[in-house]
Amino acid sequence: VPEKQPYRTWYHFQPPQNWMNDPNAPMYYKGVYHFFYQHNPYAPTFGEKMVWAHSVSYDLINWIHLNHAIEPSDSYDINSCWSGSATILPGEEEQPVILYTGIDNNKYQVQNMAMPKDLSDPFLREWVKHPQNPAMTPPSGVEVNNFRDPSTAWQGKDGKWRVVIGAQNGDEGKTILYQSEDFVNWRVELNPFFATDNTGVCECPDFFPVSINSTNGVDASVQSQSVRHVLKISYLRRHQDYYFLGKYVYDEGNFVPDVKFTGTSSDLRLDYGKFYASKSFFDHAKNRRILWGWVNECDTRQNDIEKGWAGLQCIPRQVWLDESGKQLMQWPIEEIEKLRDKQISILGEKLVGGSIIEVSGITASQADVEVLFELPELENVEWLDESEVDPHLLCSEEYATRSGTIGPFGLLALASEDQTEHTAVFFRIYRASNRYICFMCSDQSRSSLRQDLDKTTYGTIFDIDPNVKTISLRSLIDRSIIESFGEKGRICITSRVYPSMSIDKNAHLYVFNNGSQSVVISELNAWSMKQAEFGQEESINKQ
Ligand code: FRU
Repeated sequence: VPEKQPYRTWYHFQPPQNWMNDPNAPMYYKGVYHFFYQHNPYAPTFGEKMVWAHSVSYDLINWIHLNHAIEPSDSYDINSCWSGSATILPGEEEQPVILYTGIDNNKYQVQNMAMPKDLSDPFLREWVKHPQNPAMTPPSGVEVNNFRDPSTAWQGKDGKWRVVIGAQNGDEGKTILYQSEDFVNWRVELNPFFATDNTGVCECPDFFPVSINSTNGVDASVQSQSVRHVLKISYLRRHQDYYFLGKYVYDEGNFVPDVKFTGTSSDLRLDYGKFYASKSFFDHAKNRRILWGWVNECDTRQNDIEKGWAGLQCIPRQVWLDESGKQLMQWPIEEIEKLRDKQISILGEKLVGGSIIEVSGITASQADVEVLFELPELENVEWLDESEVDPHLLCSEEYATRSGTIGPFGLLALASEDQTEHTAVFFRIYRASNRYICFMCSDQSRSSLRQDLDKTTYGTIFDIDPNVKTISLRSLIDRSIIESFGEKGRICITSRVYPSMSIDKNAHLYVFNNGSQSVVISELNAWSMKQAEFGQEESINKQ
């Protein structure tokens, strides 16, 4: 890894070097948070022999990197150890079990089990594979090379364990349900748990209950009147994470979404930017459900190789069901606030049309910014026929410097002093038939002078209540990543950027308004962020 690394993150999780993709089997066990991830230990590119790397933490912010937990070794995983999940089996002494996908000696995808070698080791450093592996082989109606990513298992009222696996058959994407009495012998259910036409493979299914009247999380096995269920699917073709709220029909062994997948911008997504293969777990220490997601690169393969690393994880997010019951809310875990250092605040400042204010005095290359905007009267805002527009496209066309009535207004992050380089995270309001809508966009088109980057702009629309005259934005800025949360976590957009000038001390942060009408910064708080600790434990083999 080259010495000067202006793009390596200060507080987002990344391995010491080389390639990382999916988060695997996050869990909390006996006071320690465990995080595993898809890793190619040999290069900063996806590899032929993927392993499970393993790190542990007491607070989900500072991490200790350990030896690999699971590596190719046997006929059932000799060609890679792909994604999977952990389930903590109850009992006198709780017992974590990992289910993961092995690429076997025929290049078939099979599901395997691994258990900690020594439950008294607080870090669970060593994992042993189950003698009865593989636990599941591709059933009929499933392509042998599209059968992967077991979810966390849950226990039904009958005491049996259930788990879903991502799969594909032709153009149909599906998740397959398996059941087991002893967590060793698994039986496939003939009817899919969930299926979508014309989508291709469903990767990394995540299935979990959410409380109806509380932001608290619940364990995967909870089934009651006070929860609803969420099924998250990562559609490889789109490289995006979609989720469905719906009904878990226990007796039929399937999931019925409230709203079907349409393939349009109305489908619900966990994040509208770069975010994939996410996975949640129930943190019983703090009674919350926490979500991790892989944040891919926008840089070229050649540059990844030169930098010596590729791939980040988002800051773990707490997830819960919104009061409306129609969508999930997400917010960075509270622990991240421990890294907040020097603070700058702006209170009640008017941002007239066409103006820009610098938020100076903090480290703009690593910052946490929260801002509450007060809106003018909405009456005169432009009309938009939203049935005609794709929010993603409109965000790219409605470039942040183009002037509207109310908006675009928002933040210019990782900006150069003259603002030629910047990432604009902004809102713009329109009137639609019988309602007001707001666009939230993250525009990477001017994020770097470099030409060879993926600078796709991301965005989406959501309804706003004209009686609520404020709108909020939080961005976690960390050298080559910007994670933005609109409306207290209703909308999330994560982007990756590689500025050529706006690095370290040359990075600036601004608030801007390019609408013709003024907006008011009711309150802005921005903090310099300290570096999280990423320690490497001495190889246990050498001890
Ligand atoms: C998702 C995915 C999974 C697979 C893993 C391999 O990004 O393709 O389906 O298990 O990555 O690393």
